[in-house]
Amino acid sequence: MSIVLIGYMGSGKSTIGKKLSEIINFEFIDLDDYIQKKENLSIPQIFEAKGEIYFRKREHLYLKEVLQLNNIILSLGGGTPCYGNNMDTILNAENTHSIYLKSSIPILVRRLTPEKTQRPLIAHLKSDEELTEFIGKHLFERSYYYSQSNQTIVTDGKSISAIAEEIVASLF
Ligand code: S3P
Repeated sequence: MSIVLIGYMGSGKSTIGKKLSEIINFEFIDLDDYIQKKENLSIPQIFEAKGEIYFRKREHLYLKEVLQLNNIILSLGGGTPCYGNNMDTILNAENTHSIYLKSSIPILVRRLTPEKTQRPLIAHLKSDEELTEFIGKHLFERSYYYSQSNQTIVTDGKSISAIAEEIVASLF
């Protein structure tokens, strides 16, 4: 079985994925890291040099590639489920359980503020107010896809370990 972690930028997909992989001993794969290695460029470099459409095409290709693997924990990029037929691909992948890590807007703003430069889609936003407004709209659009996940976990107020344990308890 494989576990796919879905959620907005800053929702803790990678941190929770790593914790989960320590507990259940499945290999952890971060799709952004996978893309960066394959393309030999960082995510901001890919956006800058080749544009978002190119990034989305590669993201789609590599998603299908990693979904072939078994017993992995896969953390996606925040946009991965929202392009092409990616969400259907995830839902139809054999033996794959998808989990939406749902965080509130103020928490996402707090987490993303110091890390904005690594994220091309929000790097230009200057104040907390701008970030709050952008995330509000973006999350509303993306929730349509995220909420199709097999399971939703509200992460606000919970520690990384508590969330990982909650996932393990619900699956095994
Ligand atoms: C993106 C999220 C990023 C990365 C890229 C685009 C998005 O991943 O894939 O910058 O569209 O939300 P994280 O969710 O890991 O930040």
